[in-house]
Amino acid sequence: MSTKLQLVYSSGQIAASVGTLAQRIGYDYAGEELVLVVVLKGALFFAADLARQIGVPLRLEFIKLSSYKGTSSTGTVTVTKGLDGSIAGKHVLVVEDIVDTGLTLKFLLGYLNDLGVRSLKVCTLLDKSGRREVSITPDYVGIPCENKFLVGYGLDVDERYRELPAIYEYIP
Ligand code: IMP
Ligand code: MG
Repeated sequence: MSTKLQLVYSSGQIAASVGTLAQRIGYDYAGEELVLVVVLKGALFFAADLARQIGVPLRLEFIKLSSYKGTSSTGTVTVTKGLDGSIAGKHVLVVEDIVDTGLTLKFLLGYLNDLGVRSLKVCTLLDKSGRREVSITPDYVGIPCENKFLVGYGLDVDERYRELPAIYEYIP
């Protein structure tokens, strides 16, 4: 059988969701300086679209974690690219593509907390809350979604499909 991609969220739906998130974040952080910690590579396009609409001065930091192999989580998380600048004393907002089991985020929040941040919140474009294995609730959720394996708009399967402007269900 050949692989199928089935459209789940159009680029228009994604843009509307990103706009709403940016507005809420801009309102909540008005008058503050913000550091976005973007989780590579999946959150790349989401962060680029979001950051340009938040409307408060912000700094961009990137972190790369490794935890996911193919279509199933391995459960162990390691930092493969750390932050460049200090985030001590800063308001930090983690920008994630998708929260699934929550294991990656749980690790990341512990890691960032240990760096002495002033505040720490999470913004994720997609939330598969039905798959959660640890109790983690993102502060900002763009689109709550079902338990489907999604690709596009940064999301990949084995590094493929990230460049697609919409989000699709990957049916192997
Ligand atoms: P978690 O640790 O299980 O929450 O997984 C988080 C990471 O797994 C996400 O940041 C993604 O990189 C990846 N992931 C989870 N679900 C999907 C999916 O449906 N498509 C592509 N990547 C996913
Ligand atoms: Mg990710």
